[in-house]
Amino acid sequence: MASTFEVQNISFSYEAIPAIRGLTLHIEEGDRIALLGANGSGKSTLLRILDALYFPSSGTVTFKGDALTEKQLQHDEFFLNFRRRVALVFQNPDIQLFNPTVFDEVAYAPLQLQWSKEDVIRRVQETLRVMSISHLKDRSPYRLSVGEKKRVALASVLVLDPEVLLLDEPTATLDPKSQSQVVDLIQQWKGTAKTVITATHQLEIVEDIADRVLVLEAGAVIAEGTPSEILSNTGLLLRANLIHAHRHFHDGIMHSHPHFHGHSPHDHEH
Ligand SMILES: Nc1ncnc2c1ncn2[C@@H]1O[C@H](COP(=O)(O)OP(=O)(O)O)[C@@H](O)[C@H]1O
Ligand SMILES: [Mg+2]
Repeated sequence: MASTFEVQNISFSYEAIPAIRGLTLHIEEGDRIALLGANGSGKSTLLRILDALYFPSSGTVTFKGDALTEKQLQHDEFFLNFRRRVALVFQNPDIQLFNPTVFDEVAYAPLQLQWSKEDVIRRVQETLRVMSISHLKDRSPYRLSVGEKKRVALASVLVLDPEVLLLDEPTATLDPKSQSQVVDLIQQWKGTAKTVITATHQLEIVEDIADRVLVLEAGAVIAEGTPSEILSNTGLLLRANLIHAHRHFHDGIMHSHPHFHGHSPHDHEH
């Protein structure tokens, strides 16, 4: 059977700014992948290419054996099928939300697909419950906190139960409880047919959300391995700017040691 995604040596630039440079990757059905990389390493751009929102200037991308090109997406049948099976949740939820209420937001895609009214209501209620946002159903999505918006954006995509989920920093800016809800959700898909590709720079969630990690630097994959292989490779994490050598004094002696990002503020008070 064809791979979910085959990406061969692709490059992509925003005007003159190169974002992806000679990137290759293979993703099989059921893979749970973490795309790990510092800000600007190309994670969001890569997810948009996998979602066929951007097309590489060179190299090839296939989805289940079919070339993902602008021309291919112009075929209605392919377009609808692809959009039904593959879903991207944007890093910035404001891009995703446009309906007057949270309920309408989550009901939007099923209504577009002309599901029956009963099915829409049942499925939307179920999804709101899973994302712990039932209490927000009559609120305007624009007037929610960032964490609430992110959960609504995720719900608006999960409602269709897509086969492939592309999640761009789904836990960034969430409080610890909401963060662990999202991590739990991704954990539940372990061992299922669902393919989940999560871009993140949060090392502390990687073991829970992924079975395989791809490390991005300057628009290319510089390493690939299991979470424990990657997380134990201090040199690699330093190079990819995912941890930094933190210089500080202990007992009057200058130390320099690798320092994990994303810990509580008191970690920095050396
Ligand atoms: N809309 C844009 N216009 C110009 N450059 C962009 C745009 N979006 C991203 N870039 C650049 O592309 C590179 C990769 O960015 P991005 O894919 O957003 O990385 P990440 O998601 O890992 O932070 C960076 O150098 C960034 O500055
Ligand atoms: Mg990004």
